Amino acid sequence: MPLLAWMMSKGKIHMEKIKLETVSFAYQQQNSSITVINDVNMSIQEGEFVSIIGPSGCGKSTILSLLAGLNFPCNGKILLNGQRIKGTGNERGVVFQHYSLFPWMSARKNILFGLRQLDDRKSPEKREQITDHYLALVGLKDAGDKYPGQLSGGMQQRVAIARAFAMDAEILLMDEPFSAVDAKNRTALQQLLLDLWNNGEKKKTVVFVTHDVDEAILLSDRIIVMSTCTKGVKDTIRVAFERPRNRAVLMRTTAYAGMRNTLVNLLFDDLLEEAEIEV
Ligand SMILES: Nc1ncnc2c1ncn2[C@@H]1O[C@H](COP(=O)(O)OP(=O)(O)O)[C@@H](O)[C@H]1O
Ligand SMILES: [Mg+2]
Repeated sequence: MPLLAWMMSKGKIHMEKIKLETVSFAYQQQNSSITVINDVNMSIQEGEFVSIIGPSGCGKSTILSLLAGLNFPCNGKILLNGQRIKGTGNERGVVFQHYSLFPWMSARKNILFGLRQLDDRKSPEKREQITDHYLALVGLKDAGDKYPGQLSGGMQQRVAIARAFAMDAEILLMDEPFSAVDAKNRTALQQLLLDLWNNGEKKKTVVFVTHDVDEAILLSDRIIVMSTCTKGVKDTIRVAFERPRNRAVLMRTTAYAGMRNTLVNLLFDDLLEEAEIEV
């Protein structure tokens, strides 16, 4: 067997980080079950930045919950490094759509708690230092002692982002992480995310849910468009624009306008089809 194939078969190297094979998922409700994901296939490479977009209710958050190990497929399988996902894990950092901080802990304690869970034998001083660093990076240097209830929605989301970044997981699962953040902070956080994705020894693998087409193009290597009608993947668009990307310059190009148009049409077609089905 060639060396590369042998190493892959032994799990020594992984080109494919995440794989969904004919995955279906249904929520159980009293006596019925509602299928929200049907026959989804996806393959995400190590170090790839993939966005998932689609109309509200098409199953984006459900897919992230499956990748996070909070739900399990009813059919098909999800592989992480070639192994089935059995639950949550420290190699996956998650930022949920709705704020996921412990309300009884200050912003700083929320991040420290996350770091302690890693059990990586870092000293308390080192953990404090990492916490301060990431609080400052998300622009909350002076808000560390505040409790979630004393912070705006956008600030809470920035604490959750700081926690995920501080934990330095190799995979980041982010569900509309910047949607409650104001425009100025949003641009800064997008840049911060790109820096973190790219900077370490090894690129992180990012699965990023957004409803913002421009955000998806700016950040991603690939955009997966989901459909409410088929409850699955409608199309996949590769974003080959050179990095680093300058938003203002990129937006003036015809290639950008073309891609944006394609994505908006895919989303719009889906909404029209759904409306026809319901009429
Ligand atoms: N806990 C749940 N129980 C029942 N149905 C749910 C639950 N969570 C989500 N759904 C339904 O599943 C579908 C997909 O939801 P979701 O994954 O949150 O979509 P998206 O994130 O794309 O807006 C929606 O129709 C939603 O109403
Ligand atoms: Mg959602």
